[in-house]
Amino acid sequence: MIVLGIETSCDDSSAAVVKDGREILSNVVATQIDYHRMYNGVVPEIASRLHTEWILPVVNEALETAGVGVGDIDAVAVTSRPGLVGSLLVGLSFAKAFAYGAGIPFLGVNHIKAHLYAAHLENDIEYPYIGLLVSGGHTIICRVNNFDDIEIMGTTIDDAVGEAFDKVSKFYDFGYPGGVAIDELAKGGDDSAYKFPGPNLHKGDHRYDVSYSGLKNAAINQTHQFQVKENPTPADLAASFQRVAVGILLKRLRKAVDDTGLKRIVVGGGVAANSRIRAELATWKDTQIIFPSLKLCTDNGAMIAGLGGKYLERGDYSEYDLNAKPRVSSFRRKYPISKQG
Ligand code: KG4
Ligand code: ZN
Repeated sequence: MIVLGIETSCDDSSAAVVKDGREILSNVVATQIDYHRMYNGVVPEIASRLHTEWILPVVNEALETAGVGVGDIDAVAVTSRPGLVGSLLVGLSFAKAFAYGAGIPFLGVNHIKAHLYAAHLENDIEYPYIGLLVSGGHTIICRVNNFDDIEIMGTTIDDAVGEAFDKVSKFYDFGYPGGVAIDELAKGGDDSAYKFPGPNLHKGDHRYDVSYSGLKNAAINQTHQFQVKENPTPADLAASFQRVAVGILLKRLRKAVDDTGLKRIVVGGGVAANSRIRAELATWKDTQIIFPSLKLCTDNGAMIAGLGGKYLERGDYSEYDLNAKPRVSSFRRKYPISKQG
């Protein structure tokens, strides 16, 4: 079963061809980074216009690289939620037209579930596990029962972790995208130059929640209060920020592992590329940690085609009146577990 996957939810125009939900035949990602860099952030109007220009050549390249024609495709999967609505609409409209023209089903896929599926494209992973989804728009700790059954345990109460990297980087002009720039800069820095604060753990149902606005604010507006080293460099600031940003996340993640007894973690999303998260998690010897390769961490069509293949296997498809949704409401917290603290 061959699925064409299309991803245009943010600033990457991507198309991929995946066989049987697993084998990547092609994965073309046209990144718009250079077009948004001068604004230090994604400009939605620019993003959707570029998707409109790029979608056809990107899909053609994906088919060509995979060595397949339109007649070989069994279904089209496309990100329909969440994301920038104008950008989503480009991919969704294209996917509908392609599917209609080819007389094959199309499937609207949830971008968040697809990020968690990304690691399955390269690894045999048993369910259930603890999922850690960290991107520019989301920070989610969850229990993943299967590709479509995800129970949210914790999420951010304000900024997403990638958003905090992006905003701090934007403020100091460290580079764009912020996460990549800070990760790189931090390599030459002293991570104890600043003692930035992290939020306290919440109690009860919110004990896996994270918060990044305090850290972001400290790193942008209150550096003098938390500076412990004389004459710190930008690299020191980046390293100190990154240490705390990763620490906030891993403290809750550890708690989720200990409370559930699930000794397997699958990470996904752009921030999964972060070298400090990877290095720290590598020391958790009692837990199996699975990361996608770097290309599958950030937005890509392969994760959409892969997850689409799983739905198709089950006989699912979407109706043509499916609309794009900027947010998802299906991610309600539904994980009351007995152990509190
Ligand atoms: O998953 P993604 O490509 O798009 C969203 O769905 O948001 O993630 C993009 C985010 C951005 O915030 C970017 O700064 C962050 O991932 N990112 C990183 C790294 N590489 C990308 N954050 C920290 N360290 C990195 N190495
Ligand atoms: Zn994403």
